[in-house]
Amino acid sequence: MAAADAPVPELQARADACAAQLCAADRVLLASHIDADGLTSAAVAATALERAGIPFEAVFEKQLDADSIAAIADRAYGTVLFTDFGSGQLDLIAEHERAGAFVPVVADHHQPADADTEHHLNPLLKGIDGASELSGAGASYVLARALAARSSADERLDNRDLAGLAVVGAVGDMQASEGDLRGANAAIVGEGVEAGVVEERKDLAVYGKQTRPLPKLLEYASDVRIPGITNDERGTVSFLDGLDVSCRADGEWRRWVDLSEGEKRTLASALVRRAVSRGVPAFKIDRLVGTSYVLTEEPVGTELRDASEFSTLLNATARYERADVGLAVCLGDRERALERARELLANHRRNLSAGIEWVEEHGVTREDSLQWFDAGSEIRETIVGIIAGMSMGADGVSRDVPIVAFAEKGDGETKVSGRGTGPLVGDGLDLSAAIGEAARAVGGDGGGHDVAAGATIPAGTEAEFIERADAIVGEQLE
Ligand code: C5P
Ligand code: C5P
Ligand code: C5P
Ligand code: ZN
Repeated sequence: MAAADAPVPELQARADACAAQLCAADRVLLASHIDADGLTSAAVAATALERAGIPFEAVFEKQLDADSIAAIADRAYGTVLFTDFGSGQLDLIAEHERAGAFVPVVADHHQPADADTEHHLNPLLKGIDGASELSGAGASYVLARALAARSSADERLDNRDLAGLAVVGAVGDMQASEGDLRGANAAIVGEGVEAGVVEERKDLAVYGKQTRPLPKLLEYASDVRIPGITNDERGTVSFLDGLDVSCRADGEWRRWVDLSEGEKRTLASALVRRAVSRGVPAFKIDRLVGTSYVLTEEPVGTELRDASEFSTLLNATARYERADVGLAVCLGDRERALERARELLANHRRNLSAGIEWVEEHGVTREDSLQWFDAGSEIRETIVGIIAGMSMGADGVSRDVPIVAFAEKGDGETKVSGRGTGPLVGDGLDLSAAIGEAARAVGGDGGGHDVAAGATIPAGTEAEFIERADAIVGEQLE
């Protein structure tokens, strides 16, 4: 593909090398991460492999480590495509490559380990931020475009229709948390818009615009807290009833997507006025409006139409050992898989709200430069990171220092999840470095991004881990 036609020109040479290796393979093992970005990465890669006529099988892992990489090597595939992970474990992967176990192809956006391989596609290698400018699904999309250019005689099969999934992955990794997608992500959005599969629009930046009845939409929106509305059912209902907008139809509450443009504007301005009158600071009020990413080919009023709701639906499958269900939904199963995913979503929602309540009730412990809580076995280790992130700004949890959460993994191991904020990263916070270093010092390992990172450490080393992480974060923020 000519660099000028490439979605992310800086990555094109690497994408071409990866595509060439895949096209030369008899069959490929596709290994991906168990979250929304990992699932969409796998769906993008699987579709591209299938269209290129390359046989493959897909597997998912919670975390790539020595054991899971060895198990992958045992599968005896000559070529293994890692998506949304692999860079952080490139040293371990390269050992298997040297031993002749398999040729790795990596499309990832995590902080790379100190090793490289011939087929490695990662924004950080080209100065593109892997936490805010390109996700795993975005890296997989860049690869999918290169694969199409190499394998398809038909120009129309350029894989641009996969941009929607790439956007869901980026949003699922919170890369739009400053309001919109930027950098390489924005280029992918542009391709999706051109292909007619994505639409971007300024809209109310509240979760649930497709599926939540209006009172739930406003009451549960906790990012910007508005007294008398947030977590206040009666307040919300009386606010809605006081508007010059019919919020009900046939006795049922309408949803945001059911409103006309004019009704949306009326409701949004009333909400802003309410926030102003209750003393919500201007910078928070600005966060009430953001860019929404709509998957235009999905039915109105479903989780699949909104990138943020779609990503939560996927987390609800993959983080509960049902990545197969999420992948099937991404690949187009709108019957059994979607129905099962919705059941899993109901369960995930209950777990998220119970988890946040648990944190509010038990509180966090404040150190000099961070705050932490240990959920033991009260919160599932696969969602403790989401809960840590969502709890920042909840009762008793500050946004001025990063948060570290522990959860029991079993087998004598503890899961660590860390979350920061954009402003903290601006001040020098690098959680990937802090958590990775502190974990290795206590006999564990970890990594991730500057704003969000994780690790596994031996049970019993939590106190020492906190002491070390606190010192490192203190130095970073000095
Ligand atoms: O595996 P990994 O890349 O997929 O996950 C990224 C994690 O970082 C997500 O859980 C996401 O919620 C978190 N994140 C965050 N704030 C950001 C960017 C990412 O909490 N600004
Ligand atoms: O689950 P996930 O990390 O994808 O959620 C992304 C964001 O969507 C959360 O941080 C939260 O702000 C919002 N969310 C929500 N209600 C849910 C699920 C997610 O408000 N039930
Ligand atoms: O698991 P959690 O959601 O807290 O992960 C946050 C980020 O840290 C993710 O990008 C994840 O891939 C990364 N991580 C890692 N090594 C670990 C655990 C998490 O690189 N052992
Ligand atoms: Zn990711």
